[in-house]
Amino acid sequence: MTIRMTRREFAIATGAVLARPALAQSDALLTRAIPSSGERLPAVGLGTAQVFNTDDEATRQKAAAVLQSLIAGDGRLVDTSSVYGDAEAVLGDVIAPAGLRGKLFVATKLEAPDAAELKRSLARLKTEKLDLLQFHNVRDPQQSLAQFKDWKAQGVARYIGITSTRHADFAAIEAVLAREKPDFVQIDYSIDDREAEKRILPLAAEVNAGVLTALPFGRARLFRAVKGLAVPEWARGFAESWAQFFLKYLLADPRVTAVIPGTADAAHMTENLGAMRGPLPDPDQRRQMVAFVEAL
Ligand SMILES: NC(=O)c1ccc[n+]([C@@H]2O[C@H](COP(=O)([O-])OP(=O)(O)OC[C@H]3O[C@@H](n4cnc5c(N)ncnc54)[C@H](OP(=O)(O)O)[C@@H]3O)[C@@H](O)[C@H]2O)c1
Repeated sequence: MTIRMTRREFAIATGAVLARPALAQSDALLTRAIPSSGERLPAVGLGTAQVFNTDDEATRQKAAAVLQSLIAGDGRLVDTSSVYGDAEAVLGDVIAPAGLRGKLFVATKLEAPDAAELKRSLARLKTEKLDLLQFHNVRDPQQSLAQFKDWKAQGVARYIGITSTRHADFAAIEAVLAREKPDFVQIDYSIDDREAEKRILPLAAEVNAGVLTALPFGRARLFRAVKGLAVPEWARGFAESWAQFFLKYLLADPRVTAVIPGTADAAHMTENLGAMRGPLPDPDQRRQMVAFVEAL
């Protein structure tokens, strides 16, 4: 007796692997172009304020696990600073021996255009070249980035940027952003802190600067606000968790190059990276998200 089977039935019966369908649009990894170069960057990275402050074995293990999750989840961007305790040294101790440098986009920040401070950051990070070198907490509207531009020209950093999370300093950020036109601006931006939408994002677009969003969870304030609540039904189509709800609100703005949530927890890193997959909320859904958060 001849048994007739379709190709699919044959593949299932013989255990053959079916050809994988092309990735649906919504499964594709969300990357954003760095405006000054066109280089694409995965849109969720890692912030390291507070989380890796002490250079000890337990912290190095935590950092190694988080970085492994970052890379496994197709992330690249790690943001640190010369003043995040020992974070630069912890990262250098994890990244260099494991040969991970080439898989990462390493961003750090200096307090001043100071060659000694830069040398210390490079030594602690165990790298000769940074992907992004930022001037931390710009306060002076007259602040020059000439030294940062020299370092970029010398090949010490591929990109330069400025940062602030103090609204009182936004006028200084605006002045320096408009005059010096750095590659990136890093600013506090979260669903319940949207000042950057009015002032910084439009200017960043005008001067062709990428935007990194610091404090995307408001230092975990947003998780405390939704404690005990489930992600609402109307948001389930784009957010599997609160972390993704909060991050996708930011990523739905195309002017945002990457979000950099801080975490010392490898599972949280994986969850945060999930915001690079699946649909983003549309403008109406974004308004609904804001209304929901404002009513909490
Ligand atoms: N002036 C500046 O330039 C400036 C200022 C502030 C921050 N930054 C940068 O922005 C980054 C982000 O800011 P941040 O780290 O202070 O605050 P944040 O990202 O808004 O929040 C971090 C907090 O959220 C928690 N968290 C992360 N993922 C989570 C998840 N999936 N589920 C539940 N909790 C989660 C973390 O705890 P767990 O460790 O338990 O995950 C941590 O307590 C900093 O790390 C830093 O790189 C820059």
